[in-house]
Order: sequence, then structure tokens, then C-alpha cells
Amino acid sequence: MDYNNKLVLAPMVRVGTLPLRLLAAEYGADITYGEEIIDHKLVKCDRIVNDYLGTIDVVEKGTQSVVFRTCPEEHNRVVFQMGTSDAVRALKAAQLVCNDVAAVDINMGCPRSFSISGGMGAALLSKPETIHDILTTLKRNLNTPVTCKIRLLKTSHDTVELARQIEKTGVSALAVHGRKVPDRPRDPAKWNEIADVVAALSVPVIANGDVFDYEDIQRIKNATGASSIMVARGALWNASVFSPKGKLPWEEVKKEYVRKSILWDNEVKSTKHTLKEMIMHHSCLEFPEGKAVIKSETLVDLA
Ligand code: FNR
Repeated sequence: MDYNNKLVLAPMVRVGTLPLRLLAAEYGADITYGEEIIDHKLVKCDRIVNDYLGTIDVVEKGTQSVVFRTCPEEHNRVVFQMGTSDAVRALKAAQLVCNDVAAVDINMGCPRSFSISGGMGAALLSKPETIHDILTTLKRNLNTPVTCKIRLLKTSHDTVELARQIEKTGVSALAVHGRKVPDRPRDPAKWNEIADVVAALSVPVIANGDVFDYEDIQRIKNATGASSIMVARGALWNASVFSPKGKLPWEEVKKEYVRKSILWDNEVKSTKHTLKEMIMHHSCLEFPEGKAVIKSETLVDLA
């Protein structure tokens, strides 16, 4: 997996399932992350070949709920992102999916209380030994590239120090979300502090934060020195943000997203949540379309 000069769809819970990943790739994303999945959940799953859809499904034992679905078409670009606080469990979980994906990434930036209280996500940022343990264990035992995604620490000096320690574990790339743990999504991403990490590391750094238009990609590249750029909300609101030809009307993208959700039998909750986010950004959930989406219970209703 080459991490240089790539456009990357960011991991997004409930959003980054197969239809959005395929759509983003069609518009120009080179690497597409799945939503974060917690290792505790993964170790309770089976890997199932779904001949009907032509997919590989990771299915929760007992419930038949699809936790992760991928297909051969995205094999060389899909990144499986995991939430973990423990090297042994992380390895066991990663072994279930590692042959079906292009890389395994560890989320070290999630500020939600659920993650922090479980010692996952941003809780790892203050535990360099645990980070080292998790990343080296995965590196030693998997043939799949291993990466991680962090947030900025209190000072740029601290971020660079941590990034250097992460680089030493042998990761293939490091994604840096240019916000600190207490920052809100509306706070501007600190591209200058991502630049400090890029300057200090040899391993590719994927810069993330506040890319909403294709032109922003060159701006963040110039500001950070990173050659690879990761986009979250910009892609959620309009996945054609990756297209060098410019964004398509969002209604067109929305239709294609629903079509793909049906084709790949996406989980209704995921399609519904993603559509609501798109509509809230561009229009209003109080309008008839938004109300109809809220009422929908099946993919057919959503269509
Ligand atoms: C996220 N983000 C996120 N990050 C991560 O590492 N794992 C995840 O599962 C999620 N989930 C998620 C869901 C949604 C709906 C959003 C909007 C964001 C954070 C995301 O990957 C990214 O780091 C930030 O959103 C900053 O990038 P943008 O939005 O400024 O491009």
C-alpha cells in the first residue's frame, strides 16, 4: 500500500460503510477507511463469504448483524479502523479481517466518553507504552500494513514527540486530525501543527481537517507539506469532493448513494443516518423529504 499522494476517505462511524466507500472511490478517493469498529465487538464475530452479494461479511454471532462488509473491488484500498485499548485483543480482532483489507488502522483520536472510558481512542494519546504495545504487536503478527490516526496534543512539541515514537513502531503511515481533544468540529483545524509533524517524520503523514472543496486539497497540501489528504465531513456531505472535475450536485450524489445502499444491502440505520446528515447540511429535515427519511424503516422506504 502506497501512502504517498493519496486522497483518503476518513473513517466515519455509521457513515463509512461499503456504499459510501465505493461512491467516494468512484469520484476519486484512492484510499477509503471503514467506520471504527471496536475490538470487543469484532472478537464476537464470524467471517462469512456472502455468495449472493459477492461480499465478505463480518457478522456478529447470534444476532446475524453485519458489523463490516467489504467486496473484492475495494480490497486494495479499504482500511479497517479499529478501536482498542489492548494489544492481545486487537491482534485477535485484526486477524479476522486482515486478509480482506488493504490495511489496519487504530483510532487514537476519538474523544467520545464511550471510547475514553474504555481506554480507547483519544485515551491512548496519553499512554505511549500502550500505543507501542498495540502497534508493535500488530506489526509483528500481521502481513497487512498497520497505521494509526491521532489528534493533536496540547503543544506541537508533544505531538511531534508522540508521532516520532509512533513512527518507530514501523507503521506505514500516520493520519493526523488537526484538532485537539477538547476542540469542537467547528473549531478550525490547525494545519500549521500538522506541518510540524510532517516536517519531523519520514513516514507518510495523512493530513486531516477542514477540506470541503477540491481546491482545499491543494491548500492543505501547501500548508502542511503532506502529500496525502483525508476528508471526513466534506465527503459525507458530497462524496464527489474527491473529483478533480469539481463537485456534482448533492442530489445526484445522494441518489447514487441510495442506489448503492440497495445494491449492497447496506444496514438501514447506516443509510438513514448518512442521508439525514446530507439533508441536514444541504436542506432541512423539516421538509417533506427529511420527514420521510426519518420515518423510513427499510431501504425500500428510503428509496
Ligand atoms: C468522524 N471521525 C471519526 N474518526 C475516526 O478516527 N473514526 C471514526 O469512526 C470517526 N467517526 C466519525 C463520524 C462522523 C460522522 C464524523 C463527522 C467524523 C472524525 C473524522 O474522521 C475526522 O477526523 C474529522 O471529522 C475531521 O475531518 P473533517 O471533517 O474536518 O474533514
